Amino acid sequence: MKKFIIGVMFALSASLMTTTALASGDGVELEDAKVDIHNQPSLQRGAKYFVNYCMGCHSLNFSRYNRMAADLGLTEEQVAKNLIFTRDADGEIDKPGVLMKNGMSQKQSAEWFGAPPPDLSLVGRSRGSDWIYSYLKAFYLDPTRPLGVNNTVFPNAGMPHVLWELQGMQEKHCTKGEGEHATEHCELKLVKAGSMTPVEYDQTIRDITNFLTYVGEPAKLHRTTYGIFTLLFLVLFAVVAYFLKKEYWKDVH
Ligand code: HEC
Repeated sequence: MKKFIIGVMFALSASLMTTTALASGDGVELEDAKVDIHNQPSLQRGAKYFVNYCMGCHSLNFSRYNRMAADLGLTEEQVAKNLIFTRDADGEIDKPGVLMKNGMSQKQSAEWFGAPPPDLSLVGRSRGSDWIYSYLKAFYLDPTRPLGVNNTVFPNAGMPHVLWELQGMQEKHCTKGEGEHATEHCELKLVKAGSMTPVEYDQTIRDITNFLTYVGEPAKLHRTTYGIFTLLFLVLFAVVAYFLKKEYWKDVH
């Protein structure tokens, strides 16, 4: 019995341990995105920003509008009215049951940006939330780049700084320490204010990151709850099994 209890405790603690994605930012320190996929208002805001600012280029090929509506606590009518801007082949606004694709041609966009905008269905898992959050914060003016901006987290990225009106524009300032092996220390400084304060902007990109984290694994919203019930059931079942075993073996000993 003692061994069994230890086993159950071990399974419980293992299930409670969360895995954090290890994303490399080419030596750049990533900021903690502090996302919470159970924060529905944040997911709703994130979805709104995503369809307005990102979906022109990026699709979510594995998500459907109506599934998103259900998970985000919205009705299909609300989603159809406020969050669907994509159109089908006949030019009609998409229905809530379709996948969140867009009409962007991969070939053409590769010519425009040097790289096609990838589908972002799984970016929350491949890059991790801290990477996305830090990336959206790390655009800076760089006249040597075709679009005039560069990114410290994703150097030479082909993506324009689509949120510049909200964040404003940053410049990179580097200072080098004294001595032969001194390392360079760089900082991004806001040189042109946007329509949002830095605090508001951070919240906005946290909401977008939260939304992309949810999109990467929608089942997670419910999976963790099922897990807790399963473990509770196993604990209760273990007690029943123990007493049953005692009852059966009573006459043998
Ligand atoms: C004008 C088109 C365009 C818009 C709008 C746009 N992006 Fe991008 N994005 C790109 C392109 C192009 C790339 C590929 C960059 C590369 O590989 O050099 C990219 C890459 C990315 C990546 C990196 C993906 C990876 O794993 O390499 C993320 C994350 C991303 N975009 C998020 C966003 C978010 C969030 C928004 C909305 C706020 C957005 N993008 C809006 C064009 C766009």
